[in-house]
Parts: sequence; structure tokens; C-alpha cells
Amino acid sequence: MSIPKLRIGDLIADIPIVQGGMGVRISMASLAAAVAEEGGIGTISSIGLGDLERGARDYERVSCEALRAEIRKARSMTQGILAVNFMGAVRNVEVLVETAVEEGIKMIVFGAGLPMRLPEMVPDPSVNLVPIVSSARAADLILRAWAKRYERTADAFILEGPLAGGHLGFSRDELQHVEDFALETLVPQVLETVKPYEERHGKAIPVIAAGGIYDGHDIARMLRLGASGVQMATRFVCTWECDAAKAFKQTYLDAREEDIVIIKSPVGLPGRAIRNKFLVDLEKADPPQVHCPYHCLTACKVAEAKFCIAQALLNACRGDVDHGLVFCGQNAHRIDKIVSVKDLIAELLGELEAALAKTDPRTDLSPEG
Ligand SMILES: Cc1cc2nc3c(=O)[nH]c(=O)nc-3n(C[C@H](O)[C@H](O)[C@H](O)COP(=O)(O)O)c2cc1C
Repeated sequence: MSIPKLRIGDLIADIPIVQGGMGVRISMASLAAAVAEEGGIGTISSIGLGDLERGARDYERVSCEALRAEIRKARSMTQGILAVNFMGAVRNVEVLVETAVEEGIKMIVFGAGLPMRLPEMVPDPSVNLVPIVSSARAADLILRAWAKRYERTADAFILEGPLAGGHLGFSRDELQHVEDFALETLVPQVLETVKPYEERHGKAIPVIAAGGIYDGHDIARMLRLGASGVQMATRFVCTWECDAAKAFKQTYLDAREEDIVIIKSPVGLPGRAIRNKFLVDLEKADPPQVHCPYHCLTACKVAEAKFCIAQALLNACRGDVDHGLVFCGQNAHRIDKIVSVKDLIAELLGELEAALAKTDPRTDLSPEG
């Protein structure tokens, strides 16, 4: 088996690797363009962009302008494939999506909520709609609703398992038993779910596996299961091109396995992060009064929130990690150096090629490759 290309609608990436969107300001133009330049799909996160402190009243306009500028910057750096990641929980998500489409983005990745109305927001069939799901049930709900209401299908799914970074589509209870939700179980389930819709719409619905994919052996395992590619985020944080501050990357390099914890986010979902001074202080402190000028999230219960997630993520990406929330995937502790995107992708492809050359399916499906 040779390294397959990743096809999503009319888009053809030379390598089956999508760099996952990372808000706030962790994956912007620099990282996304570097990945796209290497033949993968680079994803800009639309979350928390712009000089938000300048004026809460202008939040909507400022964040859209900043997204527009970020897309143009990335486009000036590469002709490769760029995607933009959106969160359903964000108040102005519709205008952000509109902005990305106006700027010619052909792949919209949508998470943190089921995007039931996405085809209405993006009627142009040349724009690929890629929901993020964590179960076959969620994929089925989306496919059924889109087929009925819009006679449209998803152009691909990102299937995010429980080892991923950032907000997670699993309950705290489910996260106690991650082995029950391993990608090895979820990928075949989602493939089975999309099959009748592929037949109905006469097109492939690729499934892209995400969450804990660390090396080329992991990628090979997902491809052998039937995934068309993988989405990786944590590994791309410790690259020179990643847009986060050096201190953010250093937190990854310093992290031990036991420092990686599940937190309760004001978004209303669990999230995975590194237990740093910010989280330790939060455990000790009386719940502080959160002052919120933006109302950026529809689901945020400001009165109950222990912290402002937008501010905590902004602090972290700027390098004030002692006052910031450092999201990461379960495998962040394995990273021990910062490398270029080019070198990282070369390493992954080398491992992937070696793993795919093996013919013993038992070896190929084992976690060690
Ligand atoms: C720092 C960080 C921030 C993230 N932010 C987002 C986000 O804003 N939206 C989103 O859909 N996923 C987000 N994710 C999830 C990634 O896009 C990706 O699917 C997941 O982390 C893949 O697992 P891995 O990190 O183990 O490779 C984030 C992940 C990390 C590590």
C-alpha cells in the first residue's frame, strides 16, 4: 500500500494529513500555510481573532476582519489547500463562515455542536462541508437531516476520538473509559454509517480520524481501518511555524503524562489541558467574578463560569501561560523538541511508508505499528 492522497470533493491533498484547527490563535496563517505547502491541509482557526480588547461592541466586525486578513496572509504564503475551523458555540459563527466563503475557502470544518443548518449558511456546492463528530450517531443525525432538508451530504467527516486536545465531544464519565471509544472502534462504525449516504448521493464521504494520532504508525493504522486520512493538532504545536508563543510550546515540552488533565470548560464541554499554575490556582481560588465584555459564546453561563475561557486562551497563546489555559492532546507529553513543519511531515511520511510496507495485518493494526 502506498501513501494515498486525500480527496475531499474536488480538493486533492498530496498527503493524507489535515492539521487540526486550534483556537485561540494557535493555528493561524503561519502554521496552516506551512502544512498546506507540504501537501497536507492547513486549517486556520476562526476563534478569537482580532484586537478584541479594542472594543467589545465591535467584537463581530473585528473578528471577521481579522479572519479575512488571516486567510489572505495564508493565501499569500501558499497555493496549497487551506481550511477554516469554526465552533458552533460561538455567537457570530454565521458571519465568520460567510467571511471565509467570501475569501474563497473551499473547506469549512465545523465542530462544538451539530451543524444542522450549515448547508443553509453555505449553499455553494463547491465549498466542502466537513463536520467534526465523535460518534456514528452524530454523523447519522447530520446526514439524515441534511439529506431531508437540503438534499445535500457532508463532503467528509472529521471523527474525533477521546484522546484529542481542546474541547471534547465526550462526557466526563465517558472519558473515564477512553478504551470504549477508541478510534479502532469508532472508525468502522462511522464508515458503516456513511455507506448508505455515499450510495444515495453517488459520492464518497471520507472519514478523517483524529485524536491521539502521534506518528506514522498511527496514521497507517487509521488508513488500514478505512479512514481516508488523519487530523493531527498536538504534534503541530511544537513546530517553529505554529503561531503560539514560545512559552506555550515550552509548556508542552515540560509536560509529564500526569500533567495532562480533563477540565470543565465554560463552553459546557470537557476539555483536555496541561495542569499548569493557572489550573492549580483555579482549584484553590474562590470562584472569581467573571467580567465578560464580549458574550462570544452562546452557551457560556457567565454567572457560573470559574474563568473567562476567551481571556484564558488569549493569555496562553500570547505566552502568559501562568494566567492561561493550555489545551493539548493526550500525547503532548511525548514531544521533546521543536521542529519545522517540513521536518515533522517528512518524519511522519517516513514512518507511514515503512508501516504501510509491512504486510502482516496483526503487526499493522497493533498500536506500535
Ligand atoms: C491547543 C489546541 C486547540 C484546539 N482548538 C480547537 C478548536 O478551536 N476547534 C476545534 O474544532 N478543535 C480544536 N482542537 C482539536 C484539534 O483540532 C484536533 O482535532 C485534535 O486535537 C486532534 O488530536 P491530537 O491533538 O491528539 O492530534 C484543538 C486542539 C489543541 C491541541
